[in-house]
Amino acid sequence: MLILGLESSCDETSAAVVEMDEKSGVRKILSDIVASQVDIHKLYGGVVPEIASRAHVEAVSGITYEALKQAGAGTKDVGAVAVTACPGLIGALLVGVNFAKSLAFSHHIPLVPVNHICGHVAAAYLCDPELKPPHLALVVSGGHTALYDVKDFTVYETIGTTRDDAAGEAFDKIARVMGMPYPGGAALDKMADGGDPHAFALPSPALGGDGFDFSFSGIKTAALNLINGAQMRGEQLNQNNLAASYVHTIVTGIAKKTAAALDKTGYGQMVLAGGVAANAHLRAEIAKVCQVRGVKLTVPPLNLCGDNAAMIAAAGYYAYEAGARGDTFLNASAADTF
Ligand code: KG4
Ligand code: ZN
Repeated sequence: MLILGLESSCDETSAAVVEMDEKSGVRKILSDIVASQVDIHKLYGGVVPEIASRAHVEAVSGITYEALKQAGAGTKDVGAVAVTACPGLIGALLVGVNFAKSLAFSHHIPLVPVNHICGHVAAAYLCDPELKPPHLALVVSGGHTALYDVKDFTVYETIGTTRDDAAGEAFDKIARVMGMPYPGGAALDKMADGGDPHAFALPSPALGGDGFDFSFSGIKTAALNLINGAQMRGEQLNQNNLAASYVHTIVTGIAKKTAAALDKTGYGQMVLAGGVAANAHLRAEIAKVCQVRGVKLTVPPLNLCGDNAAMIAAAGYYAYEAGARGDTFLNASAADTF
């Protein structure tokens, strides 16, 4: 079955065609076109929601045409249209949802709403044909940091989540203050290489106690105070050491809760997904946590870690099989609705 996926929850407009058939083990990406708005938002140091919505409107039909063309498919070949309906920027989501509705209903194709987080996890199914739930999933992105007990392809139970900011937001904010252009997460990741991870003591994002929740506001404020204090004294902080300490504290905090979640669930396999899963230090730390426990770890390749529509199409396939359908009243939601 061919699924056309559409993604517009933040600053990437994406359309993709995937071929999926769980019975015969087919999970194949036929096309995955991503139109990034990063260069536009860079001018403002972050995503400007209204500009994002307008850019999605301009890009969505062209890239959908391109995705079908590259897959060698027409709308008559498409078995379902899957679209990100939550969570994300509401204006941005609405562009994809309304475009998907028009396309699906004018061509008499079933419409399937998809949760963006399930999409990030489904990226792992596309790159590992053997992987099936149940398993643990750690989703770390610009908007989310959460641990899920994935009981089935469409059944998620939140084990732990962030109480305030997401890890990606925490990376981007400090990267910006340190002078890196938006989104600075990847640049901060690189700057951390070769620095001393113990040069600065920062508060861990892993909350105390037996729970699995995170908080990133403390470490963000502590790093800001360090930077501002040094500036006022006319001192120059070692940038590599600061980046290394910041990345190390975030990564080890996330790894600590992930290890506890693996021990609690007892799962022998886990997925690391989301844009921040591109972070080399996080990948290495989670790999260590899995290795000592004999847990199989699946991390999507970099092109499937960031926002893309192939992951939405894959999640849409499982949702379609579970009977999920959207009608003409389908609405987008900024909040997570599992
Ligand atoms: O999943 P994603 O593409 O969008 C959301 O759903 O939010 O994640 C984007 C986030 C940004 O905050 C970006 O800075 C971060 O992923 N990111 C990284 C790295 N590459 C991307 N953060 C840390 N290290 C990286 N290498
Ligand atoms: Zn995302």
